[in-house]
Amino acid sequence: MDVETLKRLAGEKAVEFVKPGMVIGLGTGSTAVHAVRKIGRMWQAGELPGIVAIPTSEVTAREAEKFGIPLTTLNEQPKVDITIDGADEIDPHFDLIKGLGGALLREKIVAAASRRMVVVSDYRKQVTQLGARAPVPVEVIPFAQRPVTDYLKSLGACVALRLDGARPFLTDEQNIILDCTFESIPDPAQLAQTIRAQPGVVEHGLFLGLATDVILATPDGVEWLKK
Ligand code: A5P
Repeated sequence: MDVETLKRLAGEKAVEFVKPGMVIGLGTGSTAVHAVRKIGRMWQAGELPGIVAIPTSEVTAREAEKFGIPLTTLNEQPKVDITIDGADEIDPHFDLIKGLGGALLREKIVAAASRRMVVVSDYRKQVTQLGARAPVPVEVIPFAQRPVTDYLKSLGACVALRLDGARPFLTDEQNIILDCTFESIPDPAQLAQTIRAQPGVVEHGLFLGLATDVILATPDGVEWLKK
């Protein structure tokens, strides 16, 4: 089975947890989009009456709008019943690296407001220790690019400014992203706290203690992993 099929199977499976009347966080990325589309089709078929959704990016908002999914904001609905989102890495504690799609700030805000965060992924994202295959994206206000870069380098990271063609990639909040590759991340909580301590850092892609469920698609089938 090809990876695109696995992503679709994982994204669609998670929608089984969505019920009428729920406030739903809609994730971002090539796996989460399958959940958005399935919710959209079910909404159009009248199978999910009363739902409202909070998109984690402008791209996801546009996708949801194509189906007419009713959208809201955290300011109107501060408690989210369920969020379905992808990940770049998942460790055995369900701690994650997210943000290769550039939406980590809104994703983390929505995840933190959610009673349940279901991660949808193919098996390639499972790691024994975070940092094994993905950099940690750090969202930074452009004014602070140089001091934050120097700070992250002092922590041992190899730091790359994310680009969009020849220009810096800008997030939905008009910030830049510094992708930080660490040789290893033995203590993600400590690293998260240390990164956060630098002024100019808006958020980082270490999602610790937020995921409650993982839907993992493997060539042998789709597994539901629960904490
Ligand atoms: C978006 O900012 C990311 O956090 C995505 O959720 C993550 O990169 C996973 O994306 P894919 O499902 O496209 O791999």
